Amino acid sequence: MLDGAEGPAKQKAMDLLVRYGEALGAERFVGVTNIAGVPGSSTMFLHEYYKEHGGGSFEDVFSRFDLDSDETVPFPKVGGNCCHLQGGMDPELWAEQGMSREAFEHQQQDEAELIRHGVKLLKTCTPYLAGNMPAFGEHCAWMESSAVVFCNSVVGARTNTEGRESTSAAMLTGKVPDWGFHRDEHRRGTHMIQVDVPVESVMDWGMLGYFIGDAVQENIPVVVGKIGQPDLIRHKHFGAAAASSGGVEMYHIVGVTPEAPSLDAAFGPTKPVATIHYGPAERRRVYESLNSNGRDRNVDYVMLGCPHASIEQIGEAAQLLAGKRIRSGSSLWLFTSRAVKSVADLHGYTKTIRDAGGLVMTDTCSAIGKMLPEGTKVVALDSAKQVHYLPAIMGIEAWFGSTEDCIRAALTGRWAGELR
Ligand code: F3S
Repeated sequence: MLDGAEGPAKQKAMDLLVRYGEALGAERFVGVTNIAGVPGSSTMFLHEYYKEHGGGSFEDVFSRFDLDSDETVPFPKVGGNCCHLQGGMDPELWAEQGMSREAFEHQQQDEAELIRHGVKLLKTCTPYLAGNMPAFGEHCAWMESSAVVFCNSVVGARTNTEGRESTSAAMLTGKVPDWGFHRDEHRRGTHMIQVDVPVESVMDWGMLGYFIGDAVQENIPVVVGKIGQPDLIRHKHFGAAAASSGGVEMYHIVGVTPEAPSLDAAFGPTKPVATIHYGPAERRRVYESLNSNGRDRNVDYVMLGCPHASIEQIGEAAQLLAGKRIRSGSSLWLFTSRAVKSVADLHGYTKTIRDAGGLVMTDTCSAIGKMLPEGTKVVALDSAKQVHYLPAIMGIEAWFGSTEDCIRAALTGRWAGELR
């Protein structure tokens, strides 16, 4: 491939991967069969930039941005199981999100190209909820920190946190450097986390993840103690939070996650470098830090669905909103994937939420799309990850609590959440 025997696009892709592997000190490649990235997609900004620097077509952007090529090369069909992660706008509610028709039409063109080239348009940060669930031990190349930590920890598949360039190159070659989480020796625990307070609700799991990420940064926590069996939603919020306050790409929960049937298996031959306790005082401190940005209790926006909501979470929101009305002047946007929304539509959840004055949106979120209802000053969130990013990105105040706290804020316009 590097010699160009399989065409110029694969040659450019392999050149990029060789440079990447050399920078990492990798000695070989590993074959990847499941790749999640954002190949060739461009915002209007990127599109305009490349129009002036070599051409603004899908192939131009893919060649020059994704493959780091000085020339445009024909983009062949991708191999393997390749999907597109979250994008920039909802395909139906883009105007409500403040997007222009021009940007929407540009996105439509990108999507047509992706389908033509064999990339599945899942358009979500939760590909595992939308039709792409890797197998245990499968080597993957995924972007999106919350998806990566889920892939490694909950599924036991293997991926580093790849970037746009390496995932696009992997879609053409089926290879990434054999490094990091592809190798057994880099999947072992480093820090013991002893949990001394019950962790049950989704909000509790988000707070624990946020605490652990901050405590271990880019290391691998091994969690033991007063924790029950987390379901998929709890894993989703726990991992996303740990990947935000720190750079956690893999965790073990002894007796729960597949590579940690025992403490010995989680740590392997290495000893924990530290034991960190999480008790009532730490829990309160995390709650306060997640709410440290909130001052005005008048809430004008509630955002749910980070990472993208599961069907159960949409059902819960619909149940809490059924027959009620969101306060005039407030907005509620719930984000999910197109696949999950189609089930929510079937169940009537989307209509229930809409009848209450909320909107179910797909593909994106307020942080990724940099979009808020007009005039938003204070947001309420049920996701520690979103609290970490949205106030910083959009310059607004934020409150953190349970889904119920957030929906109450949407109905009353006031924040009344508290740590229970
Ligand atoms: Fe997904 Fe946006 Fe959160 S893309 S993980 S909902 S920051």
